[in-house]
Amino acid sequence: MEHRVVTGDKTDEDRGSELSLRPRRLSEFIGQNRVKESLSIFIEAARSRGEPLDHVLLYGPPGLGKTTLASIISVEMGVRLRITSGPAVERAGDLAAILTNLAPGEVLFVDEIHRLGRPVEEILYPAMEDYALDIIIGKGPSARSIRLDLPRFTLIGATTRAGLISSPLRDRFGVVHRLEFYSVDDLATIVSKSAQVLGIGIDSAGAYEIARRSRGTPRVANRMLRRVRDYAEVRADGVISEDVARDALAMLDVDELGLDRLDRKILSTIIDKFEGGPVGVETIAASINEERDTIEDVYEPYLMQLGLIDRTPRGRVATIGAYQHLGRDFPADETDGQARLL
Ligand SMILES: Nc1ncnc2c1ncn2[C@@H]1O[C@H](COP(=O)(O)OP(=O)(O)OP(=O)(O)O)[C@@H](O)[C@H]1O
Ligand SMILES: [Mg+2]
Repeated sequence: MEHRVVTGDKTDEDRGSELSLRPRRLSEFIGQNRVKESLSIFIEAARSRGEPLDHVLLYGPPGLGKTTLASIISVEMGVRLRITSGPAVERAGDLAAILTNLAPGEVLFVDEIHRLGRPVEEILYPAMEDYALDIIIGKGPSARSIRLDLPRFTLIGATTRAGLISSPLRDRFGVVHRLEFYSVDDLATIVSKSAQVLGIGIDSAGAYEIARRSRGTPRVANRMLRRVRDYAEVRADGVISEDVARDALAMLDVDELGLDRLDRKILSTIIDKFEGGPVGVETIAASINEERDTIEDVYEPYLMQLGLIDRTPRGRVATIGAYQHLGRDFPADETDGQARLL
């Protein structure tokens, strides 16, 4: 899928290089200062008490560093990280097996935790709260429930969709953090560091140019860096300058704001087919032939962050900024000649 250049979701190529580009310690993690500061306090306190860290829920759009933070937490706590995901844990027994195999203090990372099935999720409640596992033995009238003690552990849940997490689950996390889009300065730092690790020549204007178009997302920044490197090697002298970055990104159809063809398609569809909205996300998805989830998880958050679309109870609306970005005239209100307020 060509539009993947700018989206935060993960490709196979990302998987390959992310391991080497992933910061290992909290001090190497760029940006997200609020999250970093609070985690460092909780980690230090837990360590000095010799206890596991409280359960942590991390949420936010793809590629902002949730998995990275989980791995950093385990390193800082000096324990092993066990990784699974909502869709991978199919039955309650699967989760029970994982939990009983944890060593004291270990970190269990559950990615896409909003996709755990109800019966599996219910295993987690006593596990998180009391470090206990309630299991039913036998069937029918002779069935009885016994309680197994679990080692004390830390659960780290990650999700792109905090809204889909049930409140009993959410309430059992002592630490809840939303990851925000990164500033251009932070992204430029990430790009420069990644270039160093990958052995790519880049100057600071080149790093800044990539950062500016990375839609606030480190994964996108790293991916663009690799694409621009290819271009620099073939078309330029191998060093990424501002001009090289700009030309390479233009070739990839990534515009000044970091939007790609599908972003622009979403905007132009709202404007041209639905008179600027409001229009439901389902209708937009159908008319551009894209998954609703992809639009909601990957595209919309950044378009909203840029102020190009608004979410209203009746659907999505293109803002004046969207009209301007696409070079369209914003429809004037016929009654008083003023621009329609959104
Ligand atoms: N703060 C950061 N500093 C430096 N690099 C970062 C930072 N955050 C993320 N990255 C880079 O971005 C990549 C993607 O981050 P990560 O896999 O942690 O995102 P994620 O939020 O778990 O995404 P997903 O929702 O798709 O699972 C990492 O491999 C790392 O290279
Ligand atoms: Mg992840």
